[in-house]
Amino acid sequence: MIKNSTLTIALTKGRILAETMPLLAKAGIEPLESIGSSRKLLFETNSPAVSLVLLRGSDVPTYVRHGAADVGIVGKDLLMEFGVEGLYEVLDLEIARCRLMTAGLSDRKPSEAKVRVATKFINVAKQHYASRGIQAQLIKLYGAMELAPLMDLADEIVDIVDTGNTLRANGMSPRDHIADISSRLVVNKASMRTRHTQISELIDRLSKAVDEQGGRA
Ligand code: PRP
Repeated sequence: MIKNSTLTIALTKGRILAETMPLLAKAGIEPLESIGSSRKLLFETNSPAVSLVLLRGSDVPTYVRHGAADVGIVGKDLLMEFGVEGLYEVLDLEIARCRLMTAGLSDRKPSEAKVRVATKFINVAKQHYASRGIQAQLIKLYGAMELAPLMDLADEIVDIVDTGNTLRANGMSPRDHIADISSRLVVNKASMRTRHTQISELIDRLSKAVDEQGGRA
């Protein structure tokens, strides 16, 4: 259990984490043991008042919304998909930048009428195709979206694109740009009131760390 007086920061596992840790270090927060090489999920830091928990990105908004963590670091893609109810989105950390896009097989023309779409971003996809007046049959997947058009499960996918290597390697090309994505700092609404000084200081330090990293240059 975490002490009640501790400020808990929920971090996203995976590719965001590698860019998160240097930013936290610049803001003066360092775990007492290496996060990447441990199976632990809960970490104390050099500041006794701050602890870190390591979660799947899609669980970060849930932990923060319910106040199990006071603040979280999570991709904008997941905030778009799961909503920001109960949260304040306070800072663009300008890390883990990528794009949320539709994509399809390079040798097929996009359909303008009805399209089968495989994605883990069901809400984002629903909104996107509706806004373009295209009837979409949405198929929920949990990973390896790029396989769906190859296996004729879907005509298009909605997924994040970074280098574009995964699409290219699977004979696919990006189509519509839906949104530019980066990681955001979110805060539980109640924590913002009850731990205002501590959280304001964290936002301030992280904001300076973002500037130092040249994200806003
Ligand atoms: C993401 C995404 C793509 C890939 C895009 O998957 O789902 O598959 O990265 O990156 P690229 O454009 O640089 O090839 P990730 O590896 O994060 O795993 P996930 O399927 O668990 O989301």
